[in-house]
Amino acid sequence: MRISDPKLLGRLSELGIELRATTKLSELTSLGIGGTTDLLRIAKHESIPDLLKLLDANHIPHKFLGGGSNLLVDDGELPWVVQQLVPPEPDIVLEGNLAHVDAAADLGRTVTFCAKRDLGGMEGLIGVPGTVGGALRMNAGAYGMQIGTYVREVKLYRAAARKIETLRGHQISFEYRHTSFAPDDMMLAVILELPSKPYNEILKGIRICNEKRRSSQPLGQKSAGCIFKNPPGASAGRMIDELGLKGHSVGDARVSDRHANFFVNAGRASAKDMLALIADVCERVQKTYGLSLENEVVVWNA
Ligand code: EPU
Repeated sequence: MRISDPKLLGRLSELGIELRATTKLSELTSLGIGGTTDLLRIAKHESIPDLLKLLDANHIPHKFLGGGSNLLVDDGELPWVVQQLVPPEPDIVLEGNLAHVDAAADLGRTVTFCAKRDLGGMEGLIGVPGTVGGALRMNAGAYGMQIGTYVREVKLYRAAARKIETLRGHQISFEYRHTSFAPDDMMLAVILELPSKPYNEILKGIRICNEKRRSSQPLGQKSAGCIFKNPPGASAGRMIDELGLKGHSVGDARVSDRHANFFVNAGRASAKDMLALIADVCERVQKTYGLSLENEVVVWNA
């Protein structure tokens, strides 16, 4: 979608929004898949309510992009514009055991930044790609921990109320790869309350998690992490592996040889290829195990 109306372009510039026309979303997603649209870069949270009012008044559909690491975007010319936060400088500020973190901050860098200042707890998240906002929205977790455990407060744009609000941790429910945020809420910033731990000890935990991840996941390849959630009491990766589907592919979309719940873009995979592979694997798992797999990856259809 293109924004070309000069009046609208003028208003965007007044709001301090940077417009990057004809952006390839394949360059902003870890799968390396996605068509083109205009990207709106937001430097000030306070401009968001006016920006959304403006887009809605001009009938411009919009979506909000985090780090693009758990996302499958459709191919071709996309029928909505995409908004993305520009991280402020600095994007992490510490105050005792509290870390004030902008949603656009990189998750891995946040974990190491806090670790170096003797704040731990998030060791398991070290290799999880993406932004803190993205991790919050889906309650990212690994190796026995999840980010929700440490959330004291979240600042967000509530689409339903059309304003910026602050929620306390106990007002949000954090479950396995799921939260009580509405799909169109925009995460803006978070306060994490982290346990004190000596850096050396945190580093040991980080090294163990890194080693586990390196030995079981296809880290160097383009993927969105696990494609499916694990059904209660079962492992999607193990079932897909047991079905002999490692290496199974549709075009360049392929089930990883290393971890069967990672689907990789082995070249120039399209969204169509990836969606066909997802549907095919789902059907086979359903047939053999009688379980319907739920996507962990978020799909943006055109
Ligand atoms: N397994 C296989 N074959 C495979 C993959 C796994 O047999 O191809 C077996 C493993 O041997 C193990 C079991 O399945 O016995 C579970 O595997 P793993 O320890 O890799 O954990 P997982 O359930 O597949 C989950 C998360 C990962 C997270 C790891 C470590 C989900 C969907 N996945 O994977 O998170 O990193 O645990 O905590 O919850 C993600 O969410 O994107 C993600 C990568």
